[in-house]
Amino acid sequence: MSDHRAFYEAGYSLTDGDEADRMGRWRALGARSKGAHVADLCARVQLRPTTVVEIGCGDGALLAEMSARGLAPALDGFELSGPAAEIARSRQIPGVRRIEAYDGARIPAEDGAYDLAVLSHVLEHVDAPAALLGEAARVASAVVVEVPLEANRSAARPSKREEAARIGHVQFFDRAAIHALVAGAGLRVDAELSDPLPYAHHAFFAEGRAARARAGVKAAVRRAAWRAAPRRAETLFTVHYACLATGGASLSSS
Ligand SMILES: C[S@@+](CC[C@H](N)C(=O)[O-])C[C@H]1O[C@@H](n2cnc3c(N)ncnc32)[C@H](O)[C@@H]1O
Repeated sequence: MSDHRAFYEAGYSLTDGDEADRMGRWRALGARSKGAHVADLCARVQLRPTTVVEIGCGDGALLAEMSARGLAPALDGFELSGPAAEIARSRQIPGVRRIEAYDGARIPAEDGAYDLAVLSHVLEHVDAPAALLGEAARVASAVVVEVPLEANRSAARPSKREEAARIGHVQFFDRAAIHALVAGAGLRVDAELSDPLPYAHHAFFAEGRAARARAGVKAAVRRAAWRAAPRRAETLFTVHYACLATGGASLSSS
């Protein structure tokens, strides 16, 4: 765990300058889709949480988005990286009660302390995703999991695997693997969605007109393929997948 912590402490240590600004805008852009996914899944199962915890809340971008959306009146965050937790705390997000760094294993909260736990783009970063999901299920009655589905042909290319490793991915999930993890935690998927991501996401790091045009084509082709055959698309390229799981009665599915 200490190697992991050092990696994520370094990842959030850049707090000033153009690159820090750019990464902040990248995280805020990602948080818009992620927040929309959490809100959509909650709406589908008619869950109106009072208390939400984000486990692996990073710099607080998604907490800020959930707060702005009025997802819940009380929000907490736990993070492996101390510097990330510090940045998140410094944002003074309305509705946020506590943001703490923790050991990455045992969340410092009582069983059932929350209506909803959010694990957004965290499970692909951990060696023991089942244990972390089990912790989320211990502290909350419902859990939203979001991951990139990277067990696909495009993401298997060496250059893509190198990039995934550079940003800390150690798991490469498909939808079935997430279903198995959810079932292993004693939960059931009540609602799920996938997202091929908007042009703004694909174009974010594109520099120059030609690169932006390529990003536009990529976004359009992927969206068309995903619309035509969403499950087949998951085997070809990376989409973001999110599900809401509970231990109770299934409310809806998609
Ligand atoms: C890609 S970021 C996602 C941040 C945020 N959840 C989001 O979706 O924008 C992954 C985060 O998971 C954190 N992390 C990694 N292992 C963790 C663990 N065992 N417990 C909590 N957070 C962890 C990292 O420090 C990093 O902030």
